[in-house]
Amino acid sequence: MKKLNPFKPNSPVPPAMFAGRISEIESIEKSLFQTQNGQPSNLMVTGDRGIGKSSLLFYVKGLASGGIKSPDYERFNFVTVDLLVSEKTDISTLVKLAERKISRELSKTEAIRSFLHTTWEFVKRIRIMDSGIGPEEKNSEIEILLDDFSYSLAETSKRITENASAEEKRDGIVFVIDECDSASPDLRLGYFFKNVTESLLHHGCYNVMFIIAGLPTVVEKLSESHPSSIRVFTQVPLGELSPSDRRYVVDRGLEEANKVNKIQTKISPDAKIQISVLSEGYPNFIQQFSFSAFEEDSDNEISGDDVLNSAFKQGGAIDAIGSRYYASDFYDRIKSDEYREVLSIMAEKMNEWITKAEIRAKFSGDESTLSNALSALVGRKIILRNPSKIGEYRLQQRGFALWIKLFGDKSKPKA
Ligand SMILES: Nc1ncnc2c1ncn2[C@@H]1O[C@H](COP(=O)(O)OP(=O)(O)OP(=O)(O)O)[C@@H](O)[C@H]1O
Ligand SMILES: [Mg+2]
Repeated sequence: MKKLNPFKPNSPVPPAMFAGRISEIESIEKSLFQTQNGQPSNLMVTGDRGIGKSSLLFYVKGLASGGIKSPDYERFNFVTVDLLVSEKTDISTLVKLAERKISRELSKTEAIRSFLHTTWEFVKRIRIMDSGIGPEEKNSEIEILLDDFSYSLAETSKRITENASAEEKRDGIVFVIDECDSASPDLRLGYFFKNVTESLLHHGCYNVMFIIAGLPTVVEKLSESHPSSIRVFTQVPLGELSPSDRRYVVDRGLEEANKVNKIQTKISPDAKIQISVLSEGYPNFIQQFSFSAFEEDSDNEISGDDVLNSAFKQGGAIDAIGSRYYASDFYDRIKSDEYREVLSIMAEKMNEWITKAEIRAKFSGDESTLSNALSALVGRKIILRNPSKIGEYRLQQRGFALWIKLFGDKSKPKA
């Protein structure tokens, strides 16, 4: 009989299945509390691909809007505006989307609809920025647009927090903006945050908060358009899940499955250890290994062998993770087998520093191929050169290193 597979290798995890991140959530709650009480605090969630940034934002949206209650605070009641940045996003689209989402959430009474209509009236006048305007005119358009935006945001936040009318009183407005690392330089995202957060304070607005997320390169992205924009944010870096959180992901998934499926699924302690060890705490690996093992199981008890077979087989978990997260870096951006060999040698040390001499000792090619490979990989930002030690390199992302290592293991016989 077909069973529902509870694991989520393809999407952010819903709050009900969310594991770990206790200290990160506590500091986010503290920031929400500060903002609720007129001391706005902005956060930047950073981490590698698949580490769980979007899942954490999903959870935070629930907290901020009151869907999830924190044990330490009263239920929050913010208006949350979630936005996604892509390389095509320009500043006018960002502002228009913000206005739409705010209006959609607040337009409950005639009085507030008419207030929003007047306050956000400038949005209808926004011009398409590329249509035949010169750079200077464009700069001044952007200045005006940001000023209008900050003013309207400030007025809206004051109205909903002050409760002068008979409307429901809110805590303020929380922007949750994912994938900020993919912003195009044209968006000038750092400048946007710096400008808007300062203008809000000038307009006497203290209940608006920005929570943004992206790959660690987002820091560079923001400082390119405004060096001090980074200081607007407190950073929340995400790392691997602890062994007990890894087990929780598996147990929680099976609990969910056993609620829905007539036939119950169990898991052996050995299988749980395999998932925990193979994944090294990367949530995307935990979900995929668990998903694949659940599919592999045929006797309603997931065993260590189910985990290993489904992980390493053709089209199994490691292939699935590769095609979703890492294969384009490994195959499309690197055309040469020798370069891939260099990456495989480096991945044996995960993302620790490794010397050129250590790589050379295992490399099958000649010296100049190795030198070319290292400089090409540095140029593509796949590996980093140690700025304080000549001749040392490391892989940029641990998850990528783990995948290369496991992928290499696929060709070796299993114990
Ligand atoms: N705290 C968590 N508990 C359980 N599963 C998680 C958790 N965080 C992430 N996951 C799982 O890990 C995978 C990656 O999560 P998510 O999409 O949130 O990562 P991300 O950092 O946003 O990735 P990307 O860089 O690709 O946008 C998903 O399969 C998700 O279900
Ligand atoms: Mg994401």
